[in-house]
Amino acid sequence: MGDFSIEKVAVIGAGAMGAGIAQVAAQSGYQVCLFDLLEGKAQQAKAQIEKGLSRRVDKGRITQDEADATLARIECSAQLHEVAGAGLVIEAIVENLEVKQSVFRDLENICGADTILASNTSSISITAIASALEKPERVVGVHFFNPAPVMKLVEVIKGVATSDEVAQVSLDWARSCGKDAVLARSLPGFIVNRVARPFYAEGLRALEEQVASVDEIDYLMRRAGGFNMGPFELMDLIGHDVNYAVTKSVFDACYHDRRYQPSLIQKELVDAGFYGRKTGRGFYQYQAGTDTASPSFHPSVERAISSVNQIGNWQQPEKSFEQLVLNFRSIPPSSALENTDLELSGAALDIDGVLLVPTRGNTATQLAAQLQRPMVIFDYCSDYLTTPVIALAPARQNTQQQTEAVVAFIQSLGKQVILTKDYPGMVMWRTLGMLVNEGLDLANKGGASLEDIDMAMTSGVNYPQGPIEWGSQLGWQYLEQTLDQLTHFYGEERYRPSPLLRQMAYGN
Ligand code: NAI
Repeated sequence: MGDFSIEKVAVIGAGAMGAGIAQVAAQSGYQVCLFDLLEGKAQQAKAQIEKGLSRRVDKGRITQDEADATLARIECSAQLHEVAGAGLVIEAIVENLEVKQSVFRDLENICGADTILASNTSSISITAIASALEKPERVVGVHFFNPAPVMKLVEVIKGVATSDEVAQVSLDWARSCGKDAVLARSLPGFIVNRVARPFYAEGLRALEEQVASVDEIDYLMRRAGGFNMGPFELMDLIGHDVNYAVTKSVFDACYHDRRYQPSLIQKELVDAGFYGRKTGRGFYQYQAGTDTASPSFHPSVERAISSVNQIGNWQQPEKSFEQLVLNFRSIPPSSALENTDLELSGAALDIDGVLLVPTRGNTATQLAAQLQRPMVIFDYCSDYLTTPVIALAPARQNTQQQTEAVVAFIQSLGKQVILTKDYPGMVMWRTLGMLVNEGLDLANKGGASLEDIDMAMTSGVNYPQGPIEWGSQLGWQYLEQTLDQLTHFYGEERYRPSPLLRQMAYGN
């Protein structure tokens, strides 16, 4: 189609994102022209960039010459038509379709036919923005993450009319800036904001159902799951106003698919003005003027160890958890669990007559009724050997002493116990199951490739693993079974397995 060559980049909007994008482009050797409607805003942004660069010089990350050269490449424009010579224009203004369309119409008149017109929108359809133009094929999403100079990921978004060439040149450009660039179709939430929904939604759901406290869930996700932050501390950091708006926009754009339903807990925080760190209060309280407050977890008092009677050959019981999980998964998903299955497969641990098994989506109470035994289920950990904490859920039929025997056993292995309410799928495992399901479902709808989904989630939100890679390790059948159990338990379509998860489960 066109002869796209990018030497000069224009950035429209010099707010948090525009300033960051301008810096990225200039650091990568592009001439940058920065424009903002507000007089003086572009200059202000440039001064901020200068400060940031000086800090990097002080830390020895770049030389003074490099900082000077980067800054010299950024030119502030007072008029929109000054962006005319750019090969790529990236819009980073207010998140409003009509305003964006009007700016794009102006840009279409100002810029030559070989200029790529990109939007940094995180929630508006690229197809809808492009529909206002005569040549919608040159409109593309180039979605940076905040702060743009630090975050490695860029999602390149293809609207219905975007040409393959424009998408490819945009991917190449982002890569030339040292970014991990992935390609996504313009579906609600693109990749990251869609696939990450269950990370927040399942945390909120567990809280709503009084399964465990905010601190306990965050602690579990970090220490047992390997995530950098738990869902509540992360939402406090992002801001509930922002996170709730994203959730709502994906929910609305997906015709109220229950998988994306926002939580009333979050709405309450937004209504109260408790947006998180920036207002000093969200799920946690933060000291005024600091952004370093970190939630702390105080595990409940150690319980006294009562008599623990392990059966079987458990020379190194903490190591054996992994084996127990594997044995448990080898029991055919279709079979209703039987006592003999568990014993023959070595898939349960008997502690004082109480069976300890990994979760597979049933509640401990269901299993206790089925097997006529006291039961405790345990949650997923990324490494059972080194995890400092394991979540346990006891059956309602258990006596307190029976549950305490299991707690004491885990504590005797030097691990902390978070005793949750009996909850199908448990907190960690269920969150992972839903993340894997969401990733697969996006791929199934042609939203992005499996590889790009994994790259987006590890690079964009620092997940310890991509959901697809994780799913293949955890076992497709086992995950499918968990979601089927949840669907049955709740009678909600929210937990329905993706068609691709079903196919993966057949195929392995
Ligand atoms: P911001 O509010 O910090 O900055 C927006 C800037 O655009 C302001 O300086 C404003 O004066 C200027 N502006 C508004 N209308 C304009 C117009 N018609 N022409 C020129 N300039 C105009 O907003 P922020 O956070 O930088 O977001 C910008 C865009 O990036 C939005 O579309 C947002 O959804 C998206 N985004 C934001 C992220 C974030 O974490 N803040 C992350 C990724 C994308």
